[in-house]
Amino acid sequence: MQSIRSLPVPRACRCVRPAPAPRFPGGRSLPIALGRLRDLHTSPPRSSHENPLGLPRRNANPPPTMPRRGAPPQKSRIKGVEKIIVVASGKGGVGKSTVAANLALSLLHSPPASMGRTPRIGLLDLDIFGPSVPKLMGLEDAGAPELGPGNKLIPLQNHGVKTMSIGYLLPPNPAHDTPVAWRGMMVMKAVQQLLFDVDWTSSNGEAPLDALVIDMPPGTGDIQISLGQLVSVDGAVIVSTPQDVALVDARKGVAMFEKVDIPIIGLLLNMSHYTCTSCSVPHELFGSSASFERAASDLQLDVLGKIPLVTQVSDGGDAGRPVMVQSGKEGGEVRETMKSVGEGVWEWLGSRKTDSGQVVGTRG
Ligand SMILES: Nc1ncnc2c1ncn2[C@@H]1O[C@H](COP(=O)(O)OP(=O)(O)OP(=O)(O)O)[C@@H](O)[C@H]1O
Ligand SMILES: [Mg+2]
Repeated sequence: MQSIRSLPVPRACRCVRPAPAPRFPGGRSLPIALGRLRDLHTSPPRSSHENPLGLPRRNANPPPTMPRRGAPPQKSRIKGVEKIIVVASGKGGVGKSTVAANLALSLLHSPPASMGRTPRIGLLDLDIFGPSVPKLMGLEDAGAPELGPGNKLIPLQNHGVKTMSIGYLLPPNPAHDTPVAWRGMMVMKAVQQLLFDVDWTSSNGEAPLDALVIDMPPGTGDIQISLGQLVSVDGAVIVSTPQDVALVDARKGVAMFEKVDIPIIGLLLNMSHYTCTSCSVPHELFGSSASFERAASDLQLDVLGKIPLVTQVSDGGDAGRPVMVQSGKEGGEVRETMKSVGEGVWEWLGSRKTDSGQVVGTRG
């Protein structure tokens, strides 16, 4: 297998000639330069949008394309993945990534009794501008992913969960502060490659993932819409904090997923309260959870759980040891809540038929 960072730089990347003006549908050609991510993510605006992760292409596996304007959206399953759950919210900083990482671990450790084995779980980071999964899962210094047969990215694994993130593909940088400064088309192509060019089964005859948790970026923009149009997602967990300002954005997230036919599993209240060590009374630091419960009831959605504000959650995230793999007493309430969220998600997935009428097949 070959490391993606050792790939040769295609000539087009070093080219000093101005790139030919891109011609879009109708004119039939897109910009064609391919290259390594480390060269492209800082490259001038004329560089390629076609293959931002720099995966080698020999026409054996052409990248998936966005549906053409006017064509009905066609959703696919992701090859090697049975169930797909997204963790989202219209608002930034409410704990989506933290919940996504801990949900993946909760699904891993609390499978339905009928499964009779340890599930295979994956975690995909779709936050291109602010990837968190490498840090949260303790894989920040794990190096770049290998390329397997078919030039698919091989996920990096820790705590028993397979993961993929654009963070693994950025140039090595001890401070981990390399920004991704891309325009929209480039971001969309990277999203498609992360969705469809990862080998979740490791190409060695391994069985598919039982569930893939996708950590979404904040907002209700291109990435969310593209995911909704391209992938048949089984369900979404919407995270919010108690403040009205967060709830408004959570409502927007719910409305957007409904528009793209992604079913909502339920709402999860994060940072709902804080219980200090000197008393056992829960303090609702960010306001009462009553508005959250009212919002859930208005939207006719289940409240999946209420996660307290606990130092071990943020410390564990910073140290690459999510609270679900810790054992300290302080994180106990969060673990209990996330365990029940995981069980609820398994139950929800088990009660639903996969694939709606719009699904056209499997891609990847
Ligand atoms: N229940 C919690 N208790 C304590 N800290 C928490 C809790 N949930 C999240 N945090 C902390 O809050 C911060 C933001 O969390 P996180 O990065 O998961 O949010 P996010 O919604 O994914 O943000 P973004 O929108 O930027 O992607 C992190 O430092 C995280 O450790
Ligand atoms: Mg995040």
